[in-house]
Amino acid sequence: MIKKALFPAAGYGTRFLPATKSVPKEMLPIVNKPLIHYGIKECMNAGIFEIGFVTGRNKRAIEDYLDFSPELEEKVKDSSKAKLLHETNEMIQKCTFTYVRQKEMLGLGHAVLTGEPLIGNNPFAVVLADDLCEGEVLTQMVELYNKYKCTIVAVEEVDKNEVNKYGIIDGKEIEDGVIMVKNMVEKPDIDKAPSNLAVIGRYILTPDIFDLLRNTKPGKGGEIQLTDAIMAQAQEGMVLAYKFKGKRFDCGSVKGFIEATNYFYEKEFK
Ligand code: UTP
Repeated sequence: MIKKALFPAAGYGTRFLPATKSVPKEMLPIVNKPLIHYGIKECMNAGIFEIGFVTGRNKRAIEDYLDFSPELEEKVKDSSKAKLLHETNEMIQKCTFTYVRQKEMLGLGHAVLTGEPLIGNNPFAVVLADDLCEGEVLTQMVELYNKYKCTIVAVEEVDKNEVNKYGIIDGKEIEDGVIMVKNMVEKPDIDKAPSNLAVIGRYILTPDIFDLLRNTKPGKGGEIQLTDAIMAQAQEGMVLAYKFKGKRFDCGSVKGFIEATNYFYEKEFK
């Protein structure tokens, strides 16, 4: 059973400067809800209610969002606006939120390792909130985990000329949409990519990942890459890549952020 999720949220979000000088990237809103709101809802729909955040300096807005706000509730209580707080209050009531700070931003792998005290010896989901998914991707991945009990990375086919922005996998399809991973390369050159299957920001990891991360040397860009530790898992045992069903918006980029904004505006406000 997957009961816990980790949200690495300590990155600088430099693509959204100057906003991210003081607003965490994960708190930028798609229409009226911050990115973490969508990620937490996805967790709850997958039966995950224990949620840990790896935060850093300037990220306190995340904690404030996930706590009650009595004055505000009192202010809107008899108005039509009261319902705007319902979903967030439901999250606060149903989930536990824990936090740990990453003191130096040494990469996604290092952020996941920093989250170890919040996860312990349990399999867990990792959600990168700036990848906004529609279509219950985590629910699909939890189902697959219950069958195979191994690390799973969500993948999506991307344009050939975009492979240098992602971790790219190579492997063999063992059932429809499920690939046994043989190799993973972080941001390969376009002509050296083994496929166009890109890893996106949803993972299920088994807890042996922590020891592997402790032994992972800094890779590309001097950062400890999660990809390297997952590759070690694939060599020692089994890692699956899953072509999820649904839509994903790369809200870490301005283009994806605008696409998501237009999509959710059309869907929920018109
Ligand atoms: P990104 O590569 O999107 O980096 O990290 P970023 O710093 O947030 O954004 P840009 O590229 O500067 O605009 C992927 C995820 O890993 C987290 C980020 O918060 C994001 O959710 N992360 C990254 C950490 O928590 N710690 C790190 O040291 C690096």
